[in-house]
Amino acid sequence: MHHKVIIEPFRIKVVEQIKLTTEEERKAFLKNAHYNPFLLHSDEVIIDLLTDSGTSAMSAEQWAGVMRGDESYAGASSWQRMEKAIHDLTGYPYILPTHQGRAAEHLLYTRIGGKGKYFFSNTHFDTTRANIEFSGATAIDMPIEEGRHPEVIHPFKGNLDTRKLLQHIEKYGAQNTAAVILTVTNNSGGGQPVSMANAREVSGICKKHGIRFILDACRIAENAWYIRDHEPGYENKTYREIAQEMFSLADGCVMSAKKDALVNMGGFLALKDLDLALQCRTVLIITEGYATYGGLAGRDMEAIAQGLEEVFDPDYLNYRIRSTTYLGEHLDEMGIPVIKPIGGHAVYIDAKSFYPHIPPHEFPGQALVCQLYLKAGIRSCEIGSIMFGKYDEEGKLIPAEMELVRLAIPRRVYTQSHIDYVIETFKELKKEREKTCGFRITYEPPFLRHFTAKFEPLESIE
Ligand code: F0G
Repeated sequence: MHHKVIIEPFRIKVVEQIKLTTEEERKAFLKNAHYNPFLLHSDEVIIDLLTDSGTSAMSAEQWAGVMRGDESYAGASSWQRMEKAIHDLTGYPYILPTHQGRAAEHLLYTRIGGKGKYFFSNTHFDTTRANIEFSGATAIDMPIEEGRHPEVIHPFKGNLDTRKLLQHIEKYGAQNTAAVILTVTNNSGGGQPVSMANAREVSGICKKHGIRFILDACRIAENAWYIRDHEPGYENKTYREIAQEMFSLADGCVMSAKKDALVNMGGFLALKDLDLALQCRTVLIITEGYATYGGLAGRDMEAIAQGLEEVFDPDYLNYRIRSTTYLGEHLDEMGIPVIKPIGGHAVYIDAKSFYPHIPPHEFPGQALVCQLYLKAGIRSCEIGSIMFGKYDEEGKLIPAEMELVRLAIPRRVYTQSHIDYVIETFKELKKEREKTCGFRITYEPPFLRHFTAKFEPLESIE
């Protein structure tokens, strides 16, 4: 029999209690958090869809690895296991462990960046952009046109616009181009996948112009699922082989292991270039830790090595992508504007069209984030003008291109009934959408303001 229901391909061995709260309690919690869910305490949250990063449930084998962790300062066997797992997967010879993805970004992008340098990407993730700009360099996003429109269907909306890439290389000069970065899947662009054809074309352009090509590989297994499913010629390859092919096209990668390595902490930088790797390693030792542990404990490295194997299991990946799609399809059927096709790790709601009466400078994404929390204790994340908006010289907001809300799904954590609860909440929010009001910022820091900004609703909020 062919079952339509895709079950979670695991049993639950340890449970973590969720504290159920009332709407009245949540109203007070949200006010205390200045209407910024990043400032909520996690026990005030019922379903946490803030991020899929570092929130995975580890497997029994990973926990067994934690017990085996070798905590030697230098040359730990756990490091050897992690190094081998990464080497076998990526093919890159030089591997630098870091405590998370942004530390790997910092090592690499401050080495190759600096004033007068340019980075081109399908879309730089916020920490990627921040590290590049912190070095004095400029980061320019160039997703394909389809990737800029939430309603347009395209199987690989995460692709980079190679025509624009060529124009930019011409304009700024190959010698000033520090790297081209492909983020797979494209997180800030809606979690959309990148095709192998696009990666190959980018690789060809980079080779021709002598430019470094780096993969931001934190969701490369999820990206491989889309290639096998949608790109001709890959039906009979394994997900792992597909990822390996993509790695082979680039000169190196940064990876936050908190995503597709199924762990709670960790990351790495892997490179083909020895000289560059040695430069980065010097900074690694100064800032992160010795070369065979970076910022990690031996037990973390065991868990990463194991997670990198498990993530390519076809039953896991199929469940993973199909369960995210399940949420997205149900919201879509209900008439909630979602970015299509549904991304691998998250569903993105187009808050601008969900709340057309709330203009960008009143932050429609934040309005939705707050409503989800108030109504159901669901924590989500604004990816719009709060995260990416800038100010002009007169202090007027230049809005982000899209006003999105991301419902990121932690790996192996929630079951279908949790997701059904989220779907039910949207039914209610849809009924009340005309009554929902916008927000204004009462405090903001100069960098990465979404983490710590404070807000006030423009009307009394229910
Ligand atoms: N690159 C991408 C594409 C990411 O999504 C992230 C993190 C990073 C780099 C940085 O990795 O957190 O380990 O330092 N994304 C998280 C998110 C925070 O919620 O999407 P990190």
